[in-house]
Amino acid sequence: MHPASASTPERRQAGLPETGLTSAYKAVDMVVWSGTGNTLRVAERLAEAARSRGAIAHVSSMPSGGTPRPTAGRLLGLLSPTHGFTATWPLVEAALTLPGVRGTDAFVLVTRGGMRIGNKTVAGFEGTAAYLPAALLALRGAHVCGVGAIDMPLNWTTVVPAFAAEDAAAIVARGDAQTDAFSECLLSGNRVFRGWPQLVVGALMLPLSLGYMLIARLVLAKTFFADEDCTSCGMCAAHCPHGAIRMMGRIRRPYWTYRCQNCMRCMSRCPTEAIQGGQGWLLLYILLISLPGAAILSSAILSTLEISASWIAGTIRLLSGYVWIVASVWLAYAILWLGLLVPGLRNVISRATFTRFYRRYRGPEPLRKAD
Ligand SMILES: Cc1cc2nc3c(=O)[nH]c(=O)nc-3n(C[C@H](O)[C@H](O)[C@H](O)COP(=O)(O)O)c2cc1C
Repeated sequence: MHPASASTPERRQAGLPETGLTSAYKAVDMVVWSGTGNTLRVAERLAEAARSRGAIAHVSSMPSGGTPRPTAGRLLGLLSPTHGFTATWPLVEAALTLPGVRGTDAFVLVTRGGMRIGNKTVAGFEGTAAYLPAALLALRGAHVCGVGAIDMPLNWTTVVPAFAAEDAAAIVARGDAQTDAFSECLLSGNRVFRGWPQLVVGALMLPLSLGYMLIARLVLAKTFFADEDCTSCGMCAAHCPHGAIRMMGRIRRPYWTYRCQNCMRCMSRCPTEAIQGGQGWLLLYILLISLPGAAILSSAILSTLEISASWIAGTIRLLSGYVWIVASVWLAYAILWLGLLVPGLRNVISRATFTRFYRRYRGPEPLRKAD
């Protein structure tokens, strides 16, 4: 039964209120992953729209927030930013593991990095970010009734500086309007599937997106460091949603582990703007990755094990490449991190980045705090 089309006896049987409810759903449960607060704002705006229509709305943040309990007549929403033209790991994980999905009406909404060029707001590009988790939900038996993308300010401040406050506000205003249009459709009981052209292009770019998911994150996590302005306050570690930052050493400096999802919250919240993303380090990693370490490793394994089957040899070469990337980047990061503890050397290393000159993105005004 679709709640919008339920008759009064059907509503009563399903436990839906008989009057005062103009939403097609009695309850809207949203599970959100958000680095700098853009996606959280979208979720809260949608929740407010649901409440104003008489529904119960709940927003919980991944990974710490509680798992919503399935109720009759509820709508489940999964929300996350776009990373690398596709879905983030936390969103994919939620689509694969969230309990109580079968038979539930569900939607997926992602935010993407909108930009300002002159006085025009240019849309971001979500690629497969929304349809990939939507397909996973559908395979698990959910009735997917909404898929969309909302433009919010681009927060990737290891790559580009943040926008000036008035430009960010203009993008947020556009995002708010897009959120209102999406929620209006959805809460009226209509199906809303947006972004087909982006999906087609995103599908063609899937190898690039998968490369980002599998490899780039391992490398990007190891470009973060704290420069000489770090006061060892530990805010970055305390606010990291995945506990990916460890305060290490006698003078307690942040160290980024592989749990880092590149959400940018640490850079956004650091009170002294001491957190940098090292482009110089990235070049070093690319250089290391291009060395023939993986080829040497795989031929050593193949000759020791005397393997002739081509598919096993291919798999070993692939795995050797992966091991080489992880091991060489990890080692180089450890050496650089130790170098940052040496005063003179620290100044040289911490200048190998453009982010020292970049404006930080602080995120939009939160509407209400999620659990
Ligand atoms: C690592 C990273 C990759 C991103 N990749 C994309 C992308 O492929 N396409 C896009 O439109 N925006 C991209 N963005 C921008 C974010 O999706 C956008 O700013 C989002 O609203 C951030 O939401 P949040 O504050 O909830 O984390 C990326 C941001 C980061 C940090």
